[in-house]
Amino acid sequence: MKTLKHLFDKNLAWATSINKENPGFFSSLAKQQAPKYLWIGCSDSRVPATQIVGLSPGEIFVHRNIANVVIHTDLNCLSVIQYAVDVLKVEHIIVCGHYDCGGITAALENHEHGLIDNWLRHIKDVYRFNAEKFNGLTHEKKLDLLCELNVTEQVKNISNTTIVQNAWKNGQELYVHGWIYNIKNGILKDLDTSFSSNK
Ligand code: CO
Repeated sequence: MKTLKHLFDKNLAWATSINKENPGFFSSLAKQQAPKYLWIGCSDSRVPATQIVGLSPGEIFVHRNIANVVIHTDLNCLSVIQYAVDVLKVEHIIVCGHYDCGGITAALENHEHGLIDNWLRHIKDVYRFNAEKFNGLTHEKKLDLLCELNVTEQVKNISNTTIVQNAWKNGQELYVHGWIYNIKNGILKDLDTSFSSNK
Protein backbone atom coordinates (compact mmCIF):
# COMPACT_ATOMS: atom_id res chain seq x y z
CA MET A 1 0.00 0.00 0.00
CA LYS A 2 1.32 3.41 -0.91
CA THR A 3 1.49 5.63 2.14
CA LEU A 4 1.42 9.42 2.15
CA LYS A 5 -0.51 9.29 -1.12
CA HIS A 6 -1.14 13.02 -1.09
CA LEU A 7 2.59 13.64 -1.43
CA PHE A 8 2.83 11.36 -4.47
CA ASP A 9 -0.18 13.13 -5.98
CA LYS A 10 1.49 16.51 -5.42
CA ASN A 11 4.73 15.18 -6.91
CA LEU A 12 2.99 13.99 -10.06
CA ALA A 13 1.20 17.31 -10.46
CA TRP A 14 4.51 19.18 -9.96
CA ALA A 15 6.48 17.07 -12.48
CA THR A 16 3.64 17.30 -15.00
CA SER A 17 3.44 21.09 -14.76
CA ILE A 18 7.20 21.50 -15.18
CA ASN A 19 7.17 19.17 -18.18
CA LYS A 20 4.34 21.14 -19.73
CA GLU A 21 6.14 24.46 -19.28
CA ASN A 22 9.58 23.16 -20.18
CA PRO A 23 9.53 19.86 -22.10
CA GLY A 24 12.83 18.02 -21.72
CA PHE A 25 13.64 19.73 -18.40
CA PHE A 26 14.09 16.50 -16.49
CA SER A 27 15.84 14.56 -19.25
CA SER A 28 18.48 17.29 -19.68
CA LEU A 29 18.95 17.61 -15.89
CA ALA A 30 19.37 13.84 -15.65
CA LYS A 31 22.52 14.04 -17.77
CA GLN A 32 24.40 16.34 -15.39
CA GLN A 33 24.14 18.91 -12.65
CA ALA A 34 26.15 22.11 -12.96
CA PRO A 35 25.11 24.29 -10.03
CA LYS A 36 27.02 27.53 -9.46
CA TYR A 37 26.05 27.73 -5.81
CA LEU A 38 26.54 25.69 -2.67
CA TRP A 39 23.99 26.57 0.00
CA ILE A 40 24.65 25.79 3.63
CA GLY A 41 21.50 26.53 5.55
CA CYS A 42 19.35 25.57 8.51
CA SER A 43 17.16 22.44 8.41
CA ASP A 44 14.20 24.65 9.38
CA SER A 45 11.24 23.81 7.12
CA ARG A 46 10.56 27.52 6.59
CA VAL A 47 13.89 28.14 4.85
CA PRO A 48 13.85 26.03 1.65
CA ALA A 49 17.04 26.98 -0.21
CA THR A 50 16.07 26.71 -3.87
CA GLN A 51 12.61 28.21 -3.40
CA ILE A 52 13.52 31.37 -1.51
CA VAL A 53 15.92 32.50 -4.23
CA GLY A 54 13.48 31.53 -6.99
CA LEU A 55 15.77 28.98 -8.65
CA SER A 56 15.04 25.57 -10.15
CA PRO A 57 16.20 22.04 -9.45
CA GLY A 58 19.81 21.71 -10.65
CA GLU A 59 20.85 25.24 -9.69
CA ILE A 60 21.83 24.92 -6.03
CA PHE A 61 23.81 22.20 -4.26
CA VAL A 62 22.49 22.07 -0.72
CA HIS A 63 23.62 21.09 2.75
CA ARG A 64 21.37 21.78 5.71
CA ASN A 65 21.70 21.09 9.40
CA ILE A 66 20.39 22.58 12.61
CA ALA A 67 21.48 26.24 12.76
CA ASN A 68 23.69 26.07 9.63
CA VAL A 69 26.86 25.14 11.45
CA VAL A 70 30.15 24.22 9.75
CA ILE A 71 32.35 22.22 12.09
CA HIS A 72 35.90 21.27 11.18
CA THR A 73 35.35 17.62 12.07
CA ASP A 74 31.91 17.17 10.47
CA LEU A 75 32.70 14.75 7.63
CA ASN A 76 29.20 15.07 6.25
CA CYS A 77 29.42 18.84 5.77
CA LEU A 78 33.07 18.75 4.69
CA SER A 79 32.31 16.09 2.08
CA VAL A 80 29.55 18.26 0.66
CA ILE A 81 31.91 21.26 0.51
CA GLN A 82 34.68 19.19 -1.08
CA TYR A 83 32.43 17.73 -3.75
CA ALA A 84 30.90 21.12 -4.48
CA VAL A 85 34.26 22.90 -4.76
CA ASP A 86 36.49 20.21 -6.29
CA VAL A 87 34.08 18.38 -8.57
CA LEU A 88 31.13 20.65 -9.29
CA LYS A 89 33.34 23.76 -9.21
CA VAL A 90 30.69 25.96 -7.67
CA GLU A 91 31.62 29.65 -7.73
CA HIS A 92 29.79 30.68 -4.59
CA ILE A 93 29.32 29.14 -1.17
CA ILE A 94 26.46 30.75 0.69
CA VAL A 95 25.96 30.31 4.42
CA CYS A 96 22.39 31.31 5.05
CA GLY A 97 21.16 31.63 8.59
CA HIS A 98 17.74 32.89 9.61
CA TYR A 99 16.19 34.93 12.39
CA ASP A 100 13.95 33.07 14.87
CA CYS A 101 16.16 30.00 14.51
CA GLY A 102 15.17 27.33 17.03
CA GLY A 103 18.76 26.10 17.27
CA ILE A 104 20.03 29.57 18.13
CA THR A 105 17.24 30.09 20.65
CA ALA A 106 18.02 26.77 22.32
CA ALA A 107 21.74 27.64 22.43
CA LEU A 108 20.97 30.87 24.36
CA GLU A 109 18.90 28.98 26.94
CA ASN A 110 20.21 26.96 29.82
CA HIS A 111 17.71 24.07 29.56
CA GLU A 112 18.84 20.60 28.63
CA HIS A 113 17.73 19.27 25.26
CA GLY A 114 19.55 15.92 25.13
CA LEU A 115 21.98 14.89 22.40
CA ILE A 116 21.52 18.11 20.47
CA ASP A 117 23.18 20.07 23.29
CA ASN A 118 26.50 18.79 21.93
CA TRP A 119 25.71 20.33 18.55
CA LEU A 120 24.45 23.56 20.10
CA ARG A 121 27.69 23.83 22.05
CA HIS A 122 29.29 25.23 18.89
CA ILE A 123 26.77 28.08 18.88
CA LYS A 124 27.33 28.69 22.58
CA ASP A 125 31.00 29.08 21.63
CA VAL A 126 30.06 31.78 19.11
CA TYR A 127 28.31 33.61 21.97
CA ARG A 128 31.35 33.20 24.19
CA PHE A 129 33.76 34.50 21.51
CA ASN A 130 31.63 37.63 21.14
CA ALA A 131 30.28 38.00 24.69
CA GLU A 132 30.98 41.74 24.97
CA LYS A 133 28.75 42.52 21.95
CA PHE A 134 25.70 41.22 23.82
CA ASN A 135 26.02 43.53 26.83
CA GLY A 136 22.86 45.52 27.48
CA LEU A 137 20.78 43.97 24.70
CA THR A 138 17.22 42.70 25.15
CA HIS A 139 16.71 38.95 24.80
CA GLU A 140 15.18 39.44 21.35
CA LYS A 141 18.11 41.54 20.14
CA LYS A 142 20.54 38.99 21.57
CA LEU A 143 18.83 36.25 19.56
CA ASP A 144 19.00 38.27 16.33
CA LEU A 145 22.65 39.15 16.92
CA LEU A 146 23.59 35.53 17.66
CA CYS A 147 21.82 34.41 14.45
CA GLU A 148 23.99 36.91 12.53
CA LEU A 149 27.28 36.22 14.35
CA ASN A 150 26.74 32.50 13.88
CA VAL A 151 26.63 33.04 10.10
CA THR A 152 29.80 35.14 10.21
CA GLU A 153 31.57 32.44 12.23
CA GLN A 154 30.58 29.72 9.76
CA VAL A 155 31.78 31.86 6.83
CA LYS A 156 35.17 31.99 8.59
CA ASN A 157 35.11 28.25 9.26
CA ILE A 158 34.42 27.50 5.59
CA SER A 159 37.11 29.90 4.46
CA ASN A 160 39.60 28.16 6.76
CA THR A 161 38.91 24.63 5.48
CA THR A 162 41.75 23.02 3.55
CA ILE A 163 39.26 22.62 0.71
CA VAL A 164 38.66 26.34 0.26
CA GLN A 165 42.24 27.32 1.12
CA ASN A 166 43.54 24.97 -1.59
CA ALA A 167 40.98 26.16 -4.12
CA TRP A 168 42.17 29.74 -3.55
CA LYS A 169 45.80 28.66 -3.70
CA ASN A 170 45.10 27.07 -7.07
CA GLY A 171 43.48 30.22 -8.37
CA GLN A 172 39.95 28.82 -8.44
CA GLU A 173 37.26 31.47 -8.51
CA LEU A 174 35.31 30.94 -5.30
CA TYR A 175 33.40 33.30 -3.06
CA VAL A 176 32.07 32.60 0.43
CA HIS A 177 29.05 34.66 1.47
CA GLY A 178 27.11 35.15 4.69
CA TRP A 179 23.39 35.81 4.40
CA ILE A 180 20.45 35.88 6.75
CA TYR A 181 16.80 35.22 6.00
CA ASN A 182 13.84 36.80 7.74
CA ILE A 183 11.09 34.22 8.06
CA LYS A 184 8.60 36.98 9.00
CA ASN A 185 8.76 38.63 5.55
CA GLY A 186 10.63 36.21 3.28
CA ILE A 187 13.49 38.66 2.66
CA LEU A 188 17.19 37.82 2.49
CA LYS A 189 19.93 40.14 3.74
CA ASP A 190 23.63 40.04 2.86
CA LEU A 191 25.71 40.34 6.03
CA ASP A 192 28.66 41.71 4.02
CA THR A 193 31.04 39.08 5.31
CA SER A 194 32.13 37.74 1.94
CA PHE A 195 35.57 36.28 1.29
CA SER A 196 37.04 35.61 -2.11
CA SER A 197 40.69 34.91 -1.37
CA ASN A 198 42.97 34.16 1.53
CA LYS A 199 45.43 36.89 0.65
CO1 CO B 1 17.13 27.44 12.17
